[in-house]
Amino acid sequence: MDAHHVPVLLEETLGFLAPGRRPGGLFVDATVGLGGHAEALLARAPEARLLGLDRDLQALELAARRLAPFGDRVRLEHAVFDRLEEVLERLGTGPVAGVLADLGVSSLQLDVAERGFSFRRDGPLDMRMGIADLTAADLVNESSEEELERIFRDYGEERHARRIARAIARARAETPITTTGQLKSLIDRIKGWASREEKIDPATRVFQALRIEVNQELAGLTALIDQTIRQLEPDGRLVIISYHSLEDRIVKNRMRELSQGEVDQITGRTRSETRLIETLTRKPVRPADEEIAFNPRSRSAKLRAARRI
Ligand SMILES: C[S@@+](CC[C@H](N)C(=O)[O-])C[C@H]1O[C@@H](n2cnc3c(N)ncnc32)[C@H](O)[C@@H]1O
Repeated sequence: MDAHHVPVLLEETLGFLAPGRRPGGLFVDATVGLGGHAEALLARAPEARLLGLDRDLQALELAARRLAPFGDRVRLEHAVFDRLEEVLERLGTGPVAGVLADLGVSSLQLDVAERGFSFRRDGPLDMRMGIADLTAADLVNESSEEELERIFRDYGEERHARRIARAIARARAETPITTTGQLKSLIDRIKGWASREEKIDPATRVFQALRIEVNQELAGLTALIDQTIRQLEPDGRLVIISYHSLEDRIVKNRMRELSQGEVDQITGRTRSETRLIETLTRKPVRPADEEIAFNPRSRSAKLRAARRI
């Protein structure tokens, strides 16, 4: 399959990672996806080496093909990114010069109806990025009404969480909900006029919430940041691109804590000598209008970067 994924905030990402600063350095793309950012980094810095992780085998196969011209400068591993340290230790790599995480789903996952991520295409209600136990259909049909309400509220910030959870519980008692189309039309019916005030499709928040729960997307993020900080060499860089406010909040808060240092229990002051990183982005970097026009998927992207002290 010929899948295209236009890398988001590419120049900005390379600017912060600055691979040329560290000839021969090891860079980790924790979400290598279809290899867009990775390819540009390897081309830009001819001595850099790259370790790419992804939980999605299909993505890794495509990345392997795309990155083949770089030969043994590239190594790809099938893993969730909160196993980063384990992978680095197994490979015995030594310190890392930079880590990139471009969160969320790839075009490959969104565009293939069978993967069940998109409410724009009818397909099985799956949503697994790979390495996940339950499908979205398992959650929708087997979770309690209260649990569904919590998922929609916490991970989708959906104002109609309770009504939608109740409607699902009622509908599945008659027929299990197994396709994206079934779920989408149910949400459309419930939200109806009420969703006209939102600028997004009525199903967006529920689909986002299920995806986050299926793939436990938020759980691994703090772990990834902490492991990265332990593995980065001095002046090593961390760049994270997130696509919704829940992810961005986690990144922002953890980066802030690590850049302030520990609080002294006696004086209550932060001890600046314990600072681990310096943030390189006071505010998140957003794509320019031209990038959004050219690549609409980039519209919600926010990039934050930091440098290991
Ligand atoms: C937005 S895409 C990355 C696209 C890539 N930067 C490119 O330019 O082609 C995100 C990728 O991260 C992967 N992913 C998401 N969460 C992950 C996790 N916890 N561990 C490993 N991979 C993950 C997804 O499977 C997907 O392939």
